[in-house]
Amino acid sequence: MMVTLHLNGLKVSLEEGATLLDAAKFLGFPIPTLCHMEGLSPYGACRLCVVEIGEGENAKLVSSCTYPVQEGLKIRTASSRVLRARRMILELLLASCPQSRTIQDLASAHGIRIQRFRQEHEDCILCGRCVRMCEEQMMAKAIGFRGRGQARSIGTPFDIKSDVCRLCGGCMYICPACQLRCTYSEPERAVCGGCANLMSPCVEMENFDDLMCYMDPCVACEIHKD
Ligand code: FES
Repeated sequence: MMVTLHLNGLKVSLEEGATLLDAAKFLGFPIPTLCHMEGLSPYGACRLCVVEIGEGENAKLVSSCTYPVQEGLKIRTASSRVLRARRMILELLLASCPQSRTIQDLASAHGIRIQRFRQEHEDCILCGRCVRMCEEQMMAKAIGFRGRGQARSIGTPFDIKSDVCRLCGGCMYICPACQLRCTYSEPERAVCGGCANLMSPCVEMENFDDLMCYMDPCVACEIHKD
């Protein structure tokens, strides 16, 4: 059965069961995603794909990768509320994993130039890509979520090497936090050696927490490329 809705003022019909992200893709409206991946089941962890649905007081933000299309629904993919929320989410992700190339690029593409939150250098954003990859594509189910709240993490039960793990590396390949840019001489604090070494214009403070060299454009990083 087909479902008809309005996305950014355009009428579109999709098969029942499709998501708002599918609708936006169909019409060519870009929506950034992080935990979502083609070939893996939707998980809705990062909220980066947020869009606004409804009108007036009933308008609300939902994650488009998990929200199913509904008859007559009105969706905005780039309202000021959506853009504010996306930027905030990216700033928080950046604070969690400041060296992640994927997150840096997303932040840069959204015009984030200032790091407002303290960098934590965690090595996981709990997006669950690795868990789904292991279970759904590698058919192994060697890793999973453990614990709750602050203590939530991903790994094998009791941290014991899993019998079903074939060391395929799929979990690392798909991890957005694993792909690092540069680490400078103080990997636990610095983001990128380019700025610190070349004193590019984007280094205005002495505190490494304020380094913004990973933000595009960065003169020092450009020079380091070749
Ligand atoms: S991409 Fe939709 S919640 Fe992460």
